[in-house]
Amino acid sequence: MDVIDTYVENQQQRFLEDLIAWLRIPSISTLPSHRPHIEEAARWLRDHLHALGFQAEIIPTEGHPLVYAEHGKDQGKPTVLMYGHYDVQPPDPLEKWRTPPFEPVIEEGYVYARGASDDKGQALIPIHATETLLRTSGALPVHVKVLVEGEEEIGSPNIGSSLRAHREMLKADVALVCDTAMFAKDLPTLVTGLRGLLYTEVEVEGASRDLHSGQYGGAAPNPLNALAKILSGLVNRKGRVTIPGFYTRVKPPAPEERRMWASLPFREDAYLQELGVDAAPGEEGFTVLERRWVRPTLDVHGISGGFTGEGIKTVIPARATAKISMRLVPDQDPEEIARRFARKVHRLAPPGVRVQVRVLASGRPVVVDPAHPALRAAARALEETFRRPPVLIREGGSIPVVSHFQEILGIPSVLMGFGLPDDNLHAPNERFSLANFYSGIRAVARFLLHLAEVLPR
Ligand code: BES
Ligand code: MN
Ligand code: MN
Repeated sequence: MDVIDTYVENQQQRFLEDLIAWLRIPSISTLPSHRPHIEEAARWLRDHLHALGFQAEIIPTEGHPLVYAEHGKDQGKPTVLMYGHYDVQPPDPLEKWRTPPFEPVIEEGYVYARGASDDKGQALIPIHATETLLRTSGALPVHVKVLVEGEEEIGSPNIGSSLRAHREMLKADVALVCDTAMFAKDLPTLVTGLRGLLYTEVEVEGASRDLHSGQYGGAAPNPLNALAKILSGLVNRKGRVTIPGFYTRVKPPAPEERRMWASLPFREDAYLQELGVDAAPGEEGFTVLERRWVRPTLDVHGISGGFTGEGIKTVIPARATAKISMRLVPDQDPEEIARRFARKVHRLAPPGVRVQVRVLASGRPVVVDPAHPALRAAARALEETFRRPPVLIREGGSIPVVSHFQEILGIPSVLMGFGLPDDNLHAPNERFSLANFYSGIRAVARFLLHLAEVLPR
C-alpha cells in the first residue's frame, strides 16, 4: 500500500457520503420541471470544489449551467481538463425500482440510485483523486481544470458554443472523461472510440381529423400504417440500413483492433443469456462486438398515435409520430446523414400523408489514438491499480463533448471509465460498484502523476 491507497481507504466513507448527497438531487435534464434540481446539483458541485480549494464557478448557458473549476495557477505544468456530467436520465418506469431512485442505498458493495454510474459517481472520481494528491503531497503534478455539464443526457446542445466562448479558459493538453464502462469486472479498460448519434422525430399526418375506420377504412390515409411502412423500409433483411450513401464514409477498424477484440473474454451464448433472448439480430457479416462498436445502426425508440388504452376503439388517427436514432461511426457526418435520412423517409411515405422529419440531437463519432502518451500514462496507472494491463476497446454509446474537445480545443480525450456492463444505465436500479469507485480514484490519482512525466513542459 502506498500513500494514495492509504488515503483513499481512510476517506472511503466520506467519499461515499459526498456521492450520496449529490445523488439525492434529482437533476433530470430532459424534464423542464426539474430545472431547480439541475441548479441545485450544479451548486452542490461548485461548493464541493470550492471547499477543496478550487476556484469554482457556475457558468450559465442557453440551457443548463456548466460547473467550472481550476486548482491553483498554471505554473508551466501540463494541464488536464476533467469532464463529467451532473445531469441524469428520467427514472421511469418507477415501479421497477426496488428502492426509490433518488434515495441512494448501499447493498452488497453497490450504491443504487439514478446517476450512480452515469455519471455522478464517475464524475466525482477525478475530483476525489485530485483531493487525494493534494492531501497526500500538498501539491498537484499537473494543472487541473474541471468541467461538468448538465445537458449530456439531452445531447449536449450547448456544449460546442460554450467551448468556443471559453476556449482560452479551457486550454488544456488532454481531457479526462470518466463516463464509460469496463469490459468486465476486474478488467481495466480504455475506450478508444465512441459512436456518434443522430436522434430524430418523424411526424406523419393524414386526414384533418380522426376518422371512423368502418366509414373510412380502405379509402383514407392511415398515418400509423404509413409510419409502419416507413419504419420497416429503413432496415433490410440483412440488417443493413437502406438509406442511400449511409455506409459511404464508414471506416473499418484497424486489423490490430479486430485482433485484440477477438481475444476479449466474450461469449455470445452468455451474452444472449444475459439479455434473456435467443438471438441478437443485426448486420450480417459482423461479430456482436463489431456491430456494437464500429458499425452504424438505426433503432426506433418510441411510436405514438391512435388508440392504445384498454379495450377497443376503431379509429384512423389523424397523426402519428416516431422517435428514431442512428448510431454513427467514423467518418459519418451527422448533418449529411440527416439529409439522406429525411430524403429516404419521404420516399418511403405512401400517398396521402404529410411527413415531417426533425433532428432532436446529434453528436459526432470519435476515435482516440492509442499511441498518444496520455493513453500510455493511463494504461500504466490502470495496471498498477488493477494488477493487470487494460484492454483497449470501443464503445457503442455516445458522449457528444468528446468530438468538440478534439475539434474546438484540439485535445484528445482519455476515456477511462469504471462502470460495469450490468450497472443498469438509463434503466431501473442503476448502480455503481463501490470497489470500482475507490479503485477509480486510486487509478486516476496515479494517472495524474504519470501524465506529468509523459507530457513534460
Ligand atoms: N455515459 C453515456 C455514454 C456511454 C455509456 C458510453 C456506456 C459508453 C458506455 C452517456 O451518458 C449517454 O448515455 N449518452 C447518450 C447520449 C445521448 C442522450 C445524446 C447515449 O449514448 O445515448
Ligand atoms: Mn454518461
Ligand atoms: Mn447516459
